[in-house]
Amino acid sequence: MEVKRAKITAVGHYLPEFRMTNFELEKIMDTSDEWIRTRTGIEERRILKDPEKATAFMGAEASKEALSKAGVDAKDVDLIILATVTPDYMFPASACLVQKMIGAEKAFAFDLSAACSGFLYALSTGAMYIEAGRAKKVLVIGSDKMSSILDYEDRTTSILFGDGAGAVLLEESTDGTGVIDQIHYTEGDVQCSLYQHAGGSRNPSTKETVENKQHYISQDGRTVFKKATMGMADVSLEIMEKNNLAPEDVAWLVPHQANLRIIDATANRMGLSSEKVMININKYGNTTAGTIPLCLYDWQDKLNFGDNLILAAFGGGFTWGAIYLKWGIK
Ligand code: ACO
Repeated sequence: MEVKRAKITAVGHYLPEFRMTNFELEKIMDTSDEWIRTRTGIEERRILKDPEKATAFMGAEASKEALSKAGVDAKDVDLIILATVTPDYMFPASACLVQKMIGAEKAFAFDLSAACSGFLYALSTGAMYIEAGRAKKVLVIGSDKMSSILDYEDRTTSILFGDGAGAVLLEESTDGTGVIDQIHYTEGDVQCSLYQHAGGSRNPSTKETVENKQHYISQDGRTVFKKATMGMADVSLEIMEKNNLAPEDVAWLVPHQANLRIIDATANRMGLSSEKVMININKYGNTTAGTIPLCLYDWQDKLNFGDNLILAAFGGGFTWGAIYLKWGIK
């Protein structure tokens, strides 16, 4: 029997023009280009300066590019899933705003919150709608305006993140390519190692929450680093073993871009050489849900039909996971 899968048929992106280099950060906090580069691999990140624009705008621009490349009319999109931790509003979902911005009149749309694993969770979800025959064209977007929740007086966290978005169009595939397998994990972060403490129903916004800077990201960097390194490396190896993939069978690792040292540890664990690893953290920093589709965008011309890709991420929640997909664009 013919197996119906979901494959990526186009990739789009949006990156703000403004580049904030490590040298710019040196001017506003006690840090150095050397420290940031050696501890994280980041050289610069993009920042969305226009106060009128946010996550939905970036997601819409990325989606328009993906649709135009695929030659698909927005009116034919069935579903939009937008992964983000920086939605324009608490509600409505930014995916609903994207739906209107791009004119996807018949699509239903929702946001998905899984922090840095958001794009992977959204890709799995979108793929399953297609595999089940409930949707034919699905936009999966990762978009985050991280600068909106960064405290530039906190040098341990603000240096890590940037703004940006990527989007993929998923369509039916019967040629053996597409999403083959996925593994996802969650471990509730009750210790508050990686949080935005206020603004939700637990700590609604007040004068005090603003004064106490509780609307910014706060994290215990060392704990997150250890968990992320172990989580991403373990799950990447697990999905290879589950699908009988040897290192030579894997064409590319597409890792979440949080820290170059986490990416290197994952590649080592998988037995992959550095030429098989997509790395653009130097240019964009950690764009949270945007990192993986932005890698696919930057590398799309190097990908061949049938290439085995392992996508892997770890993030707040804690959430982590890996997806095995066969590249399906000829
Ligand atoms: N510039 C200069 N010095 C700094 C800076 C900075 N920007 N930030 C911290 N330091 C100092 C610290 O104060 C500390 O000084 P001390 O020894 O005098 O106390 C020293 O550098 C070492 O600090 P560590 O926290 O041990 O540095 P580490 O090597 O662990 O790197 C980092 C910190 C980059 C945050 C790392 O822990 C990390 O990447 N953690 C993962 C966090 C992450 O990626 N979060 C994103 C969301 S989750 C995800 O995407 C996976």
